[in-house]
Amino acid sequence: MYRLIYISSASDETSISDIRDILSTAVTNNREMEITGLLMYNGLNFMQVLEGSQDDVQPLFEKITKDVRHVSVASILQGEADTRIFAPWSMLFKKAKPDTTDEDHIPEVTMPEIMALEMPDNVRTIIRNFDNLLGC
Ligand SMILES: Cc1cc2nc3c(=O)[nH]c(=O)nc-3n(C[C@H](O)[C@H](O)[C@H](O)COP(=O)(O)O)c2cc1C
Repeated sequence: MYRLIYISSASDETSISDIRDILSTAVTNNREMEITGLLMYNGLNFMQVLEGSQDDVQPLFEKITKDVRHVSVASILQGEADTRIFAPWSMLFKKAKPDTTDEDHIPEVTMPEIMALEMPDNVRTIIRNFDNLLGC
C-alpha cells in the first residue's frame, strides 16, 4: 500500500460546483482503482490524501497535477504504508469553513470523525494543521 499527500492552490476560477465535479469523478474513478482518501479544501487550498497501489496512485497524482482547477501542486509526503487510514471511503471531503453560498451542501466528514481514525502521528498533524489554515 502506498500513501501520497499533496497540497495545492485552487485556481482563481475554481468554484464550489468544480469541487462537486471533482468529487463525483474522484469517487467513481477511485472506487474502480481501489484508491481511498481524503480531500480537504479551505476555499483557497487543497490538501489530498491518496492511498492505494503505487501503480495506481502515482499515475493518478500525475494526472491530478495537470488539472487546471488548481496550481502549484506539491507532494508533501509519499511512501509505503501498512494500512489504509480511509478504508472504505473512495474520497472523503472536508471543507475548512462551511460554505454559506452552497445551498445544496456537499456531504462532509467532520474533524472529530477524521481524528477518531487510526493514523500515523505525522499524518494526523498534517491534517489537523491544514484544517486550521484560514481560507475563505
Ligand atoms: C484537487 C483535485 C483532486 C482530484 N482528485 C481526484 C481523485 O482523487 N481521483 C480522480 O480520479 N480524479 C481526481 N481529480 C480529477 C482529475 O484531475 C481528472 O480531472 C479526472 O481524474 C478525470 O480524468 P480523465 O479525464 O482522464 O478521466 C482531482 C482534481 C483536483 C483539482
